[in-house]
Amino acid sequence: MARTLIELQDVWKIYRMDQTEVNALRGISLKFNEGDFASIQGPSGSGKSTLMHLVGCLDLPTKGRIFLDGHDISRMSESTLAQIRGKKIGFVFQAFNLIPSLSAVENVALPMIFNGIQKDKRDALAKELLVDMGLKDRLYHKPSQMSGGEQQRVAIARALGNDPDVILADEPTGNLDSSTGHHIMDILAHLYKEHKKTVIIVTHDPYIANYAHTKINIVDGQVAHDHESENRFLWKGYNGLNKKK
Ligand SMILES: Nc1ncnc2c1ncn2[C@@H]1O[C@H](COP(=O)(O)OP(=O)(O)OP(=O)(O)O)[C@@H](O)[C@H]1O
Ligand SMILES: [Mg+2]
Repeated sequence: MARTLIELQDVWKIYRMDQTEVNALRGISLKFNEGDFASIQGPSGSGKSTLMHLVGCLDLPTKGRIFLDGHDISRMSESTLAQIRGKKIGFVFQAFNLIPSLSAVENVALPMIFNGIQKDKRDALAKELLVDMGLKDRLYHKPSQMSGGEQQRVAIARALGNDPDVILADEPTGNLDSSTGHHIMDILAHLYKEHKKTVIIVTHDPYIANYAHTKINIVDGQVAHDHESENRFLWKGYNGLNKKK
């Protein structure tokens, strides 16, 4: 039976700014199994990126608990959080977030430094990952010398550098045309299917969301309960997909 990899228990995130408070997440309870492929949809400002940041160990919840692979990541110090993030999480962002002055190989190799991988090994692994992404002729190109789709494939290679359990992709196709976006989704689907990664994507695009086997809607900081998600998530305990694995 599939194992729960990520569990959120009544998670709140309240951003405080001067006198005002923003309730970005208001009591989210969700489970993701190992090897899930899930999409998160919802209106702008509904809390999707906030949720990804919390699951990705980039920030702490204000209230509630988050467990990642059995570790309670809702109460950890920044340094412990950073260690877990470096080992378990790979991020892919809408704006690619590559370092402009570095080549594709250097961008992919960079995060491996923090996991103590030696230079020769870093470069070899970065090249291997880029070749896997179909970029063998772009290894020494800088981001400005690549198309959006190529840059996003570099970003995916970078996310895979430390062999993370979880890939979090926040609007990974948002800056790409539709056919390039579908190519990127095919790559993410491959990571889920062949490499057994847990993949969670945020998207506004229902066609992109269709790649995922589990669809979550966030509205106003809460999981929107249509009939189906009610069955799946809270009351019976969400246990992933009808996947053949
Ligand atoms: N660092 C922050 N400080 C204060 N408020 C924030 C911060 N980050 C997000 N917010 C607010 O929290 C709410 C949720 O933001 P979030 O970025 O999670 O939304 P989103 O669903 O990702 O939206 P979009 O689809 O536009 O990316 C918004 O009202 C936003 O203004
Ligand atoms: Mg967002």
